[in-house]
Amino acid sequence: MTTTPYKISFKNLNKSFTVNGSKKQILRNINFEVETGEFICLLGSSGCGKSTILNLISGLDKEYSGEISIDGIPQAKSQAHLSYLFQEPRLLPWLTVEKNIHFALEAAKVPKTEWKDRTEHYLDLVNLSGTEKHYIHQLSGGMQHRVSIARAFSVNPEILLMDEPFGALDELTARDIRKSLLQLWQKDRKTVVFVTHNTLEATYLADRIFMMSSNPGEIDEIVPVSLSRPREYESDELFQTNKQAMSRFVQISGQLA
Ligand SMILES: Nc1ncnc2c1ncn2[C@@H]1O[C@H](COP(=O)(O)OP(=O)(O)OP(=O)(O)O)[C@@H](O)[C@H]1O
Ligand SMILES: [Mg+2]
Repeated sequence: MTTTPYKISFKNLNKSFTVNGSKKQILRNINFEVETGEFICLLGSSGCGKSTILNLISGLDKEYSGEISIDGIPQAKSQAHLSYLFQEPRLLPWLTVEKNIHFALEAAKVPKTEWKDRTEHYLDLVNLSGTEKHYIHQLSGGMQHRVSIARAFSVNPEILLMDEPFGALDELTARDIRKSLLQLWQKDRKTVVFVTHNTLEATYLADRIFMMSSNPGEIDEIVPVSLSRPREYESDELFQTNKQAMSRFVQISGQLA
């Protein structure tokens, strides 16, 4: 009998940085598995090592001890397609919306014949139809985030890494974009690892929340979020689940609420 390997797995992972000759352990004994199509949130306070985990998954950072596997293959040998979304949208401001997406499609070696359809399709899914010819500076910050999400999905990645992508947005705009993100994810079922320090965001988005403590960063608890989808911000279920997540997070991170 063959079993499908986990999309992502970390085994006994330790990570240190050396600054001015002194070595500091950043991540200690990190162990987790992520199933294909899962939506995971990494929740932890500033400096606990969340971005470092994304850098390790993506292969941007190759210095560690332990094992990282993608589809059961060591990270260094993996050919899996990943998209990485940063806190700021990182679009090319001198290009139009469609040219920004075409740029990514070209880099991902998507045949040119597919560019137009893919661009229209993903812009439509983030409610940006009709903005193809707009320059990036003509869009609001929230719209730019939507373009970056459409661009990330348009290259058909197997894994989407998102590093606090909505941290700079006002809460109502962020809610709107999270909804678009979940609609896209439910259609395409990419594996998503999403970094946040906002428990409500994690509770709204995640299948499971990996709660981290700091110094060195560890995953203290993996909390499944069993709420049905689509989720509503105003629902009692979400309110209660967030309350529990928040009190657990406060205990783990050792911070006052
Ligand atoms: N290139 C580096 N060299 C040395 N130390 C680093 C480097 N990158 C990160 N660190 C340290 O590693 C720790 C974890 O950093 P990381 O960026 O992963 O935190 P984070 O959880 O993403 O924080 P934030 O929520 O503020 O983005 C921090 O103490 C940081 O100073
Ligand atoms: Mg970070």
